[in-house]
Amino acid sequence: MDSSGKYNAAKLALELVKDGMVLGIGSGSTVEVFLNLLGDKIREEGLEIYGIPSSYQSYFAAIRNGVEIVDLVEFEPDLCIDGADQVDAKLNCIKGGGGAMTREKIVAKASRKVVIIVDESKLVEKLSMPVPVEVLPFAYGYAVKRLKEKAKDVRLREGKGKVGPVITDNGNFILDCDFGVLEDEKVEEMEGRTKLVSGVVENGIFPKKIVDAVIAGSQSSARFL
Ligand code: A5P
Repeated sequence: MDSSGKYNAAKLALELVKDGMVLGIGSGSTVEVFLNLLGDKIREEGLEIYGIPSSYQSYFAAIRNGVEIVDLVEFEPDLCIDGADQVDAKLNCIKGGGGAMTREKIVAKASRKVVIIVDESKLVEKLSMPVPVEVLPFAYGYAVKRLKEKAKDVRLREGKGKVGPVITDNGNFILDCDFGVLEDEKVEEMEGRTKLVSGVVENGIFPKKIVDAVIAGSQSSARFL
C-alpha cells in the first residue's frame, strides 16, 4: 500500500513540534513514520524532545530516534500525536487496531493538545468498524456475555506470530466488538457504557471531545480537519 498519505500527515504534524516539548506518543505505523521524521529533525536541529510512549512499539521507536523517555508522574505532555483506524465527520475516532488503545487514551487525556494523524483513507462519514475493548483475562467469559447484549458480534483477537489470543502491553485480552454504525450522538454513550462492564479496562472509542485536530494526508499533501 502507498504510504505517502501517512508521510504527508506526519510531516505536517512535525511543524507543531518545538524544542523542549514533552510529547504524548501514540502507536501504529503512522506514528512510527512521524517518529522517524522527528528523529531527523532532532539530529539536524539539535532539539531536545521528551516523550511519553503509549506502547512498546513507540517506546523503541522513540528511543531509536533520540526522544528522551519521561513519564506521567513528572510530566504533562504539551502535545499528543497519535494515529487512528477510523475518523468520522465530527472527528470521533476508533483506535486500537494495534491493541494499544488503553495507554493511548491515558496519554491523550493527560495531554494539553491531541492531534490525530491519518492517511485520508481512514476518514468515514460515521464510525462503523468493530470497537477494540481491552479486558482482564479473568473477566473474559463474563465480559463477552455482557458485551454481546449490545454488540452484534464479539471476537477475541487472535495473535500473529504466537498461538492463542493477542496479549496487550498491559497483559490483557482484546475483544473486537461490532456495535454497527455509531451515530455521533451515541459515540460518547457507547464509550461510557462499554466501560461499565466489570473487567473492561478501556475501549478504542475516542470521542471528539478528546481530539483537538485531525491531520489527513493524501498522496500529494495534508490538511487540518
Ligand atoms: C494502535 O492501537 C492504534 O490505535 C493505532 O493508532 C491505529 O491502529 C492506527 O494505526 P496505523 O497508523 O498503523 O494505521
